[in-house]
Amino acid sequence: MKKILLLGDIHANYPALKAIQKHIKPDRFDLIVNTGDFTVYSTFPNETIQWFRERKKTICILGNTDRRVLRILKGKKLKRPKKKEKRVMYFWTSDNLLPKNSTYLKSLPQQTDFTVGKIRIGLFHGTLDDPDEELFDSAPASRFQKLAKNSSYQVQIMGHSHVPYYKIVDGVHFINPGSVGRMFDGDPRASFAVLNISAGNIAVEHFRIPYPVEKVVEGLKEQQLPDIYAKMFRIGKKLN
Ligand SMILES: [Fe+2]
Repeated sequence: MKKILLLGDIHANYPALKAIQKHIKPDRFDLIVNTGDFTVYSTFPNETIQWFRERKKTICILGNTDRRVLRILKGKKLKRPKKKEKRVMYFWTSDNLLPKNSTYLKSLPQQTDFTVGKIRIGLFHGTLDDPDEELFDSAPASRFQKLAKNSSYQVQIMGHSHVPYYKIVDGVHFINPGSVGRMFDGDPRASFAVLNISAGNIAVEHFRIPYPVEKVVEGLKEQQLPDIYAKMFRIGKKLN
């Protein structure tokens, strides 16, 4: 039996990651998987990346926020996001990211895959077609059917939409663990999932746990970042 911890869309929310650590003891897992978006919107990108760097059994990919931070660090222009309050968060992150952590991000792929027993598992930030596709559980069945048909993966793990779900379509298991650090559904608690694979059987469990949101708010205030983010973290909704 393999126990896999599924994390993603942490968005530099280290207090939420620590709360998960306390709750579920990640080092007991055979593997820790991260669907990307380590960075941006909270002030703990270094602590978040360090947490993964110091663990051996991890499989991580980049998300769109990470890719944009790397673009800035390469001296390239940032076309999106356009909104000023969002851009501030990206530039704050690139200014504050330690070189060893940006080097780590640069080493990560945009998507990857791995095998557990005989089960092939694909890991994507958006979907296997597009790293920026926001795939919600409410998407038409035909979209999931197409993703199932186009791949050799029995399990597809995805992030980006920040919506936790698990559905089986045409024999393919689609899992989104939700967002550890930036929920959009009005419930500010941290979201994550556990994938158990035993003798070819697949089981998924989702969790929502509270974390000290005020630590994130304090970090934003200390760095004089836009007030709108404090509100977003407190209510667990996207307002920008
Ligand atoms: Fe995200």
